[in-house]
Amino acid sequence: MQKKFPIAILGGTGQVGSALALRWAKAGHCIIVGSRNAAKAEATAQQIKQTLVSAEVSGAGNKKAAQAAEVVVLTVPYAAQRATVDEVREALTGKILVDTTVPLVPPKIARVQLPPEGSAVAAIQKLLGESVRVVSAFQNVSALHLKDFAHDADCDVLICGDDVAARDVVVGLAADIGLRGVHAGPIVNSAATEALTSVLISINLRYKIAGAGIRITGLP
Ligand SMILES: NC(=O)c1ccc[n+]([C@@H]2O[C@H](COP(=O)([O-])OP(=O)(O)OC[C@H]3O[C@@H](n4cnc5c(N)ncnc54)[C@H](OP(=O)(O)O)[C@@H]3O)[C@@H](O)[C@H]2O)c1
Repeated sequence: MQKKFPIAILGGTGQVGSALALRWAKAGHCIIVGSRNAAKAEATAQQIKQTLVSAEVSGAGNKKAAQAAEVVVLTVPYAAQRATVDEVREALTGKILVDTTVPLVPPKIARVQLPPEGSAVAAIQKLLGESVRVVSAFQNVSALHLKDFAHDADCDVLICGDDVAARDVVVGLAADIGLRGVHAGPIVNSAATEALTSVLISINLRYKIAGAGIRITGLP
């Protein structure tokens, strides 16, 4: 494992956030589950401790969680992305923000519908400026697979961001939970990974499977 980080997971009570929390706690990172409701975050932290007695995990409101962490991971629905970032903005300066957001527009989530800015995550990098190193990752990994320790997620993680060193950290965090992270270029390329999620949802529907994923071929 690379360096241990205090990692805040905003919206860590949800599908993908709680799964990442459990996996990174198992890998030995210190996890702060974030929520709009501190008691709900603490309840999720306690659930993780029941599964993993040795886990270093606590719960807090999103802002406190972001303040306490070195790496902040955003796992809230697209409709809540901007408001959540606005709430914790001051705590993000100098940190890496890993944004998992996919700009799905229900009910047609199997259709690519990117925002006018081109990409939900690139828009957040633009909003925050260079003082926050935004990295886009995990959009194409099924929370169902992440939650199921018995299941091999069997996919790569495309990682986009303008700061290569920050991307390297997230490649390491993916490796810590058994996934191969692949550098996929600058933050604007997140448009492709965000769009790919609707493609994967279409594949899930057509082939009646739970979590299609992608593999990059040709890598050494
Ligand atoms: N599910 C997947 O398989 C998957 C895979 C890859 C990426 N993603 C992306 O990851 C993000 C989270 O997905 P999810 O399926 O984990 O979502 P989710 O379970 O529906 O929600 C995650 C958390 O976001 C918070 N939240 C919900 N509505 C909110 C609102 N209106 N304002 C502020 N916070 C709100 C809630 O936390 P509190 O109530 O505790 O605040 C909730 O537990 C999405 O952008 C999604 O596209 C999902």
